[in-house]
Amino acid sequence: MNNLGLDSRVFLAPMAGITDRPMRQLVASFGKGIIVSEMVAVNAIQWKNPKTYRIADVRDEPYPVIVQLVGGDPQLFVNAAKLVEDLGASAIDINMGCPVKKIVNNNSGSYLMKDLNLASQIIESAAKNTKLRVSVKFRSGWDCQHKNAIEFAKMCENSGAAYITVHGRTRSEFYSGQADWNIIKQVKESVKIPVVGNGDVTTPKQAAEKLKMSGADGVMIARGVLGSPWLIAQTHDYLECGTEPISPKIADIKQILLKHIGYLIDYYGENMALQISRKYVCWYSKNLRDAKKFRETYMRITDYKQAYDEINNYFDQCAAQEIER
Ligand SMILES: Cc1cc2nc3c(=O)[nH]c(=O)nc-3n(C[C@H](O)[C@H](O)[C@H](O)COP(=O)(O)O)c2cc1C
Repeated sequence: MNNLGLDSRVFLAPMAGITDRPMRQLVASFGKGIIVSEMVAVNAIQWKNPKTYRIADVRDEPYPVIVQLVGGDPQLFVNAAKLVEDLGASAIDINMGCPVKKIVNNNSGSYLMKDLNLASQIIESAAKNTKLRVSVKFRSGWDCQHKNAIEFAKMCENSGAAYITVHGRTRSEFYSGQADWNIIKQVKESVKIPVVGNGDVTTPKQAAEKLKMSGADGVMIARGVLGSPWLIAQTHDYLECGTEPISPKIADIKQILLKHIGYLIDYYGENMALQISRKYVCWYSKNLRDAKKFRETYMRITDYKQAYDEINNYFDQCAAQEIER
């Protein structure tokens, strides 16, 4: 156990539409790292939306899953916290960083960086109504004139957060520009609870450098995992044991992609899995030869057996020509 109370300091970031059950299963299959779910809307839990229930239900996953909640009404967090505990969450994270208009207009996500009083009530509601630890994920501020991450972090600490994750961008930056790890460093120097840093980490070495410069207790990785689900375990091994990361061979990447599609089929059924697999096929074929042509062909496929054949042919050809990523 580290000072985060966890057995790794490398987190798979919550990503709506990405860190679903199949992705979590895949990342967990590499054996290391802390797994966080997609965000789960507390209002949808209140209305007993079956799709949301399914997203929140992690009982049959054989590894701990931190379930992320998003919402703007402290009352709704009372039931939501109890429910996700019953549905197998190992801990709860609260999303106070999402920049999307639909979420922000609902007094949720990064809107809460403008309303510390409401944010505090939400954290308290969740923390008081579950045995689970509650963490908070937020940004550096609303915009560059309002970078209040330090004040916000102190509020989280005083409201009962076990630890916090800071994405070093403001709401108005969305995902543009470079994440500001200086503010993560300043937050770390301002609170006693552990701090996880997030933003623009795509290699184990970058994780090590950013942890060193900021003093953060952990690192969270989102986009870097797309097409590289082994990155979380590699980063863990590099940080803890100095193990140099080795890029998987093309033949191994093919097996990982096929495994991913297999998990998608198990969870979503063939038709939906095939559609969802399209974005992954693009990510996994990044930097490979003639990838554009392969992707175009793949996008037109409507049958999953054909999809498997196409992936086998393409990746086998690339592997035979020993085209490295
Ligand atoms: C497709 C996508 C979906 C995301 N969904 C969520 C989410 O549900 N909850 C959340 O807190 N952050 C979400 N994020 C933000 C990431 O967790 C992370 O903070 C951000 O991408 C910066 O990290 P990175 O530079 O490693 O990508 C999402 C990001 C992406 C790209």
